[in-house]
Amino acid sequence: MPISFDSERKIFKLDAGDTSYAFMIEKHNYLSHLYYGPELSTMDLEYLYRPTVRGFAPYPEGMQPEASRDVTAQEYSAFGTGDYRTPGFIIRDLKGYTATDPHYVSHKIYAGKPGKPGLPATFGKEAETQTLEILLRDEFSGVEFTLYYSVFEGENIIARSVKVANCGSEKVYIEKVSSCTLDFWDGDLEFLHLWGSHCRERWVEREKLIHGVQSVGSMRGLSSHQHNPFFALAEPGTDETHGRIYGAALLYSGNFLIEVEKDQFELVRTQIGINPENFEWELAPGAEFHAPEVILTVSDKGLRGMSHNFHNGIRNHLIRSWWKDRKRPILVNNWEGTYFNFNAEKLLNIARDAAALGIEMLVLDDGWFGHRNDDSNSLGDWFVFEEKLPGGLNNLVKEINKLGLKFGLWFEPEMISKDSELYRKHPDWVLEIPGRTRSLGRWQMVLDMSRDEVVDYLFDSICAILDSANIEYIKWDANRHLTEVASAVMPPERQKEVSHRYVLGMYRLHERLLERYPKLLIEGCSGGGGRFDAGMLYYVPQIWTSDDSDAIERLKIQYGTSLVYPCSTMGAHVSDCPNHQTARSTPFETRGIVALSGTFGYELDLNKMTQEERDLIKKQVADYHKYNHIVANGDLYRLTDPFTEPRYTVWMQVTKDKSEFLLSYVQSRMIPHGPLYSVRLDGLDPARRYRNSETGEEFSGEALMKAGFMLPHLFTDGTGAIYHFQAV
Ligand code: DGJ
Repeated sequence: MPISFDSERKIFKLDAGDTSYAFMIEKHNYLSHLYYGPELSTMDLEYLYRPTVRGFAPYPEGMQPEASRDVTAQEYSAFGTGDYRTPGFIIRDLKGYTATDPHYVSHKIYAGKPGKPGLPATFGKEAETQTLEILLRDEFSGVEFTLYYSVFEGENIIARSVKVANCGSEKVYIEKVSSCTLDFWDGDLEFLHLWGSHCRERWVEREKLIHGVQSVGSMRGLSSHQHNPFFALAEPGTDETHGRIYGAALLYSGNFLIEVEKDQFELVRTQIGINPENFEWELAPGAEFHAPEVILTVSDKGLRGMSHNFHNGIRNHLIRSWWKDRKRPILVNNWEGTYFNFNAEKLLNIARDAAALGIEMLVLDDGWFGHRNDDSNSLGDWFVFEEKLPGGLNNLVKEINKLGLKFGLWFEPEMISKDSELYRKHPDWVLEIPGRTRSLGRWQMVLDMSRDEVVDYLFDSICAILDSANIEYIKWDANRHLTEVASAVMPPERQKEVSHRYVLGMYRLHERLLERYPKLLIEGCSGGGGRFDAGMLYYVPQIWTSDDSDAIERLKIQYGTSLVYPCSTMGAHVSDCPNHQTARSTPFETRGIVALSGTFGYELDLNKMTQEERDLIKKQVADYHKYNHIVANGDLYRLTDPFTEPRYTVWMQVTKDKSEFLLSYVQSRMIPHGPLYSVRLDGLDPARRYRNSETGEEFSGEALMKAGFMLPHLFTDGTGAIYHFQAV
């Protein structure tokens, strides 16, 4: 059984594949963290609990000084009762008191895993996962905390979350609730996180821990381009293939906070959860609050080991879409091809070319609704702009379907334009502070998704469109962050609930649409990859990775994204050159190589393609059909790091049975008369021989891994090559 409890030692041990996690109920009835790392076969772990008598470390009256929680690793850290490090939670009662001191009460272990009401959650059959629930109680206030731990043995993943229940007789307020505390006895670690901006998402940053708190997070209402709700702690020297690294990814798409604190004794405390800034939740007697789930993993095999665990966990136990294991249609999106300047004829012409080239779906992007010819108006008016599309979508979609293509449509459900019928009718549906100047973003405002009537309106109007024609895909965009976060229907003392209620409303709308259209393919998006997080992947199987579609920039963006999220989730398209974001030109082949490593498509005007480009599209389409199963379901091997190797980037995708692999190479910068590069491949079967599908050349798996593969000498910047090998 993956979860064991030694009742004599009072130790819990969770064995998730080749990893173990252990903690104990120590003699004062607190939960003390003992260990997280490679699998341990023994329960003989009490010695890892190291209470020490220290100065300035308060302890509860009636207990011994070593009962201070300030000197030991905790499982879920309390506030105001002697642990001075960043707290897991802060609960305020009606008298204004904030100290809490929860103790262990009971636990249960069972097969399977419960969901999270209104929130994303990993799932698994009873044979695949086991759950431990631990009940803690603060006697003084009557507040109870349930800690959930679910173990996914097959993927080396532990999912943790917390429920807070008010079992007292008076209201309390949650000021902070972290989804998990993860403490370490050893502080020699480095903090790795993903940061960025619009068009430059998920760059990798890594720094030594300092004494004090390092934190990243979002206050933007969405998880954001700027920071990702993921972090890792790596032992010094950890690289792609070696070294111990711990990773945590939060299943949440709103304001989050990650805190990493190295304390006076070199202990490390981490917290990840909803950002407590401008957050508060009223909890009436009898009410419960669920904090979002977090998935944890640890690997002794470097970044790659961590990524493989996350990729397998996310693919097997988080993505639920009907499309999860299905080949996604190759799409052409008209955004960069036409922007707002399209009509039915133009779209049909693109569709005709698409059909001739083997592309499988036309996605109509922004500008099809209200009276929208630019970005200043119409958000919220989810009815067809008849001037552009006379007779509505049905005729157009029928024509497109006749060509053998599916049809997809863009929405930006959470937003509203001042110039819209919706705003004229419901000005109070906007997030705003009455009387205060509003902040606009791209001219638009944000709908109050915390209100049921707003979610109902969006559900009804999106359904009306989806029912009006055969629409099989939607792109769900969100092009600004939240400001003046206040709801017209919330009492003053509960305004701090709005940002979390906004996220719950957005999830509710997803849930309702998926219930009604279970086969609908939804692609997440927020000005590119501004809401690329594990929470969204519970609702959508793929997310537009970045508005920056430049192949060279994408090497970094897709590398950073791949630390956590599998290739099958990364929207990647071939776009026009000079690139619309960077003005850089890269060969059409290279753009295809980079896009083929994600969910593949085109983002250009097919009518403007040269014959040479048309021939290349046909080849890329054929490659997608031949190789996508490797990309979508295989293991990713990043052989170079574009952040440290500016000259060239090489990655491989290998089928789980090691019978096939794709090798992709992009030379970002050509060095005149430079060296011949060779790379050692990985993940192959040393005993097998592999044949290059194009040239027929054969190589031994062992030699490819030990001696390397010779990369071709290419003459210009931005050139590349893709190879497919099959075991013989
Ligand atoms: C931002 C998205 O990332 C783009 O792909 C496009 O859909 C635009 N919004 C449309 O406004």
